[in-house]
Amino acid sequence: MITIMMFTKPITDVIKKRTSWRTYTNEPLAQDVREKMINMMRDNDFGSPFSEKAGNSRFELLSIPEFDPSERENLGTYGTIEGVQDFIVGAIEKSKYDREHFGYILESLILGATDLGLGTVWLGGTFNRSLFSAKIKKKENEIVPAITPIGYPAARTSKEITIRSYAKADKRFPWEKLFFKGDFSTPLKLENEYFTLIENVRLGPSAGNFQPWRIVKEPTEDNFHFYLLYTDDKMGKVYNVFKRLDIGIAVSHFNLSAKELGINGKWGFEKPNISTTEDFQYIISWYGDN
Ligand SMILES: Cc1cc2nc3c(=O)[nH]c(=O)nc-3n(C[C@H](O)[C@H](O)[C@H](O)COP(=O)(O)O)c2cc1C
Repeated sequence: MITIMMFTKPITDVIKKRTSWRTYTNEPLAQDVREKMINMMRDNDFGSPFSEKAGNSRFELLSIPEFDPSERENLGTYGTIEGVQDFIVGAIEKSKYDREHFGYILESLILGATDLGLGTVWLGGTFNRSLFSAKIKKKENEIVPAITPIGYPAARTSKEITIRSYAKADKRFPWEKLFFKGDFSTPLKLENEYFTLIENVRLGPSAGNFQPWRIVKEPTEDNFHFYLLYTDDKMGKVYNVFKRLDIGIAVSHFNLSAKELGINGKWGFEKPNISTTEDFQYIISWYGDN
């Protein structure tokens, strides 16, 4: 079952407000904010369109004081994160759609944190995975795909500004590169209520800001098929492992927006008959009700 989390602001505003944050004030989360986040994490059986094909996921809020001093020096965010006191760490049972589901749930939590005025940044690569896995007591049948620092944002340092400019983090590809009608060569143009859902996918974060999601709408139906673009160049080899998280994020933006706007439909996994080059991998579809 999918229910929407409680956001105090419209989801589109929260999606627009979210941006990766790597510089924090050094303050630990206030007790009431901690409790709100812990409740959101506990209620994370709000589910995802991938729930039925994914194992259980669990999330914890870990604070720096819980680490011993040698561990604190070695949090292994490679000096990219400064002044943070708390982290959300998650684990999910190995399963067919584990990373997609994890991407959906952690992004929902990140949007919840954004709504509370907190900073976050998806870390899928630049963190000490074995240390955080030990802290969450990762079991053998689980993976820890990513974490996020969570805290009060401080002015971005020049190092953070450099990281952002390297990833062109403020930019997104235009619609015609990402969204199509009928096949992978006809650009999608939308003026109906689905515009916001697709635009909110476009605004989502992705590893390295590669924006690997592609959506093909059927010409006459409100059916949207989600694909991932894989590449086997040098960068692709580094980033392909994160793409199933990226699509979970994209699906969360689409689905949370649809829920809020009252646009009804259902998710399914029937691969449509759309000819693709080998680089596109089919993931999931939305079938609109009308
Ligand atoms: C799945 C995933 C993994 C990421 N891993 C890292 C990481 O390891 N280190 C890092 O500094 N940023 C990481 N990022 C953050 C992206 O670089 C960032 O989202 C992107 O540049 C867009 O910027 P924005 O989040 O400010 O919109 C990751 C993002 C996603 C979605």
